[in-house]
Amino acid sequence: MMEKYISIADAIKKGKGKVAVRGWVYRERGSNKIKFIVLRDSSDIIQCVLERDKFEKDWEKIDKLQIESSVKISGTIKEDKRAPSGYEINVDEFELVGESIDFPINKDLNEELLGDRRHLWLRSRKMTSILKIRDTVLQGLREHWHKKGFYEYHSPSLLGMQAEGGATLFKVDYFGKPLYLAQTWQLHAEPGIFALEKIFTIQPSFRAEKSKTSRHLTEYWHAEMESAWEDFEYLQDDAEEAIKEIVAEVLKKNKEELEILGRDVKKLEPVLKKKFPRMSYDDVLKILADKSKMKITWGKDLRTIEEDELSKLYDTPIIVTRYPKAVKAFYMKEDPKNPKVVLGFDMIAPEGYGEIVGASQREESIEKLKENLIAQGEDPSKYEFYFDTRRYGSVPHGGFGMGVERVISWICGLDTIKDAMPFPRTMTRYSP
Ligand code: 4AD
Ligand code: MG
Repeated sequence: MMEKYISIADAIKKGKGKVAVRGWVYRERGSNKIKFIVLRDSSDIIQCVLERDKFEKDWEKIDKLQIESSVKISGTIKEDKRAPSGYEINVDEFELVGESIDFPINKDLNEELLGDRRHLWLRSRKMTSILKIRDTVLQGLREHWHKKGFYEYHSPSLLGMQAEGGATLFKVDYFGKPLYLAQTWQLHAEPGIFALEKIFTIQPSFRAEKSKTSRHLTEYWHAEMESAWEDFEYLQDDAEEAIKEIVAEVLKKNKEELEILGRDVKKLEPVLKKKFPRMSYDDVLKILADKSKMKITWGKDLRTIEEDELSKLYDTPIIVTRYPKAVKAFYMKEDPKNPKVVLGFDMIAPEGYGEIVGASQREESIEKLKENLIAQGEDPSKYEFYFDTRRYGSVPHGGFGMGVERVISWICGLDTIKDAMPFPRTMTRYSP
């Protein structure tokens, strides 16, 4: 073949003349005189027409061509309103690269079977669209923090202690000693701010979640930031800016993908225009009692149904601050104005997508940290390295963690968080 291969999207942009493209058969139909192939590559799909007259020698191969076979073609592209993407290639040259016999994916497969064949289902237009949006989200987060002078910094995934409660720890046999998979980078990020001041990461976190919900994974990508010197307002501002920037980027770069996913983009537009409401846990109790007739005893954590009810009242994410100390992690700073609550917040997504960000100022008092650990049944002696951050030049600091798949799930309007990553892990789904 003569031509240089270009993407299907570029071929469509060119719109006329000779083009050469390569990809996989997305659909096929034909008669013994003519064959129509819809070809897909990572960029788009296009209808290709092969006339038997031109391919007498290869006709048997062409006639038997099945979906997901890989092929190279060249021919003449022209506009055709009836074709799926508005253009059609009349093929002059054809090469079968890899055949595909009885591709085991069809419309009738349920979620379980699609999960078993995930390695093949990734090629679907749905998954391809989500994966492109995922790329925009990750790039958007990196750009957001780099623009503000943050450094990318990493922490180990094998740790000797918990940070977010013992109930969701995965134990690992580490040469005969017990270690745990990291639930967060945080305890090893806080030491890093004394070197770099402002840092972020995007790396996997692990939670042994026994719940089968549409928003829990056992391995998820966690975008976390930690900053020296800044206060509680700064954390709320940064999380809001980050979310606004990601949503803006997706709306700019991924219109087509959102359309393929059937996402109503009008639901995302208020996110860019409005300031996210900020309210305290106490306010939430009042709002839910007044507007939703839900009574929550002070001191109880907000449950999923309560978060969902609250999220229905707003069309942007909301920031809930100052939760009762007893329901939050040991490292959250006591509110100097009210020791019963902490300077922490959760950001709750609209449309019932749940908590997308968890954050706090960090407790600086070693005594209080120890008390909190003991209250949770932990052994403070494992945390000596962490207490050193408070011993040597302690500064006010804080940070947050964002569940990348939760954010993607919400932006894409997905039914399950599992679709927000290529190979999800939950209690019941761990292969392929
Ligand atoms: O609220 P979490 O537990 O907070 C922390 O881990 C802090 N150490 C973060 C920090 O301050 N650096 O988790 C943060 C976010 C949640 O708001 C949620 O979006 C997401 O991580 N998350 C999960 N996402 C998917 N599956 C799970 N099982 C998740 N658990 C938490
Ligand atoms: Mg949380």
